[in-house]
Amino acid sequence: MIPNQWYVILESREVKAGKPVGVTRMGEKMVAWRDSSGTIVIQGDVCPHRGAALHQGKILHDHIMCPFHGFEFDSTCACQYIPANGKNAAPPNILHAKTYKSAERHGHIFIWWGEEQTTYPDVPIFEELENGYYFTDYKERWSVHYSRAIENQLDVFHLPFPHRTTIRRGNRTIADGPVVKMEGGEMQIWVHNRVDDGIPAKRVSELSEPNRPPFLHFRFPHS
Ligand code: FES
Repeated sequence: MIPNQWYVILESREVKAGKPVGVTRMGEKMVAWRDSSGTIVIQGDVCPHRGAALHQGKILHDHIMCPFHGFEFDSTCACQYIPANGKNAAPPNILHAKTYKSAERHGHIFIWWGEEQTTYPDVPIFEELENGYYFTDYKERWSVHYSRAIENQLDVFHLPFPHRTTIRRGNRTIADGPVVKMEGGEMQIWVHNRVDDGIPAKRVSELSEPNRPPFLHFRFPHS
């Protein structure tokens, strides 16, 4: 993955109050849970004591309790309580679980994947979502590098073939243009597919200025 970026790791609705959720993202085991104010907490899913999976533990107010020896960690991942030592014994500072900087926007949970920063950039969200667009999620597991999945989403030429009975029915194999524009760090693509009527695919210069929203948006990393 490209470092120093925000990445979505879960949908907000997947993490309910009082129930830690274990996931593997970026090849690392993580646990997601909510504190008593509902704020999301993302930690490494490995207890710093003996390595038990924290997501199998419990949420007790603003702490996550390890299922193995009952150590409790707060939302900064510092150990606050070791039952075997007693409630008045201060846990050693060394017992610190890994924490990920996290944010929640538009129904998704993001983590900052990279070096710690003094200030973090805003979570990048498409302008349309800020302006009240409705959207839905769809999940599918592909056994490819994520960059190939992005490339595939931007490839407007393949649609009439593998998707000929669904999203690109109609045998519209000709792809005029497509019109591609850069808006800041965002690539916007207008697709013009049509049936092959003998007129070869038109160049962008032969197409009129699009008067509808782009069909595809791609926001580049670090933009
Ligand atoms: S392994 Fe977590 S408290 Fe011991």
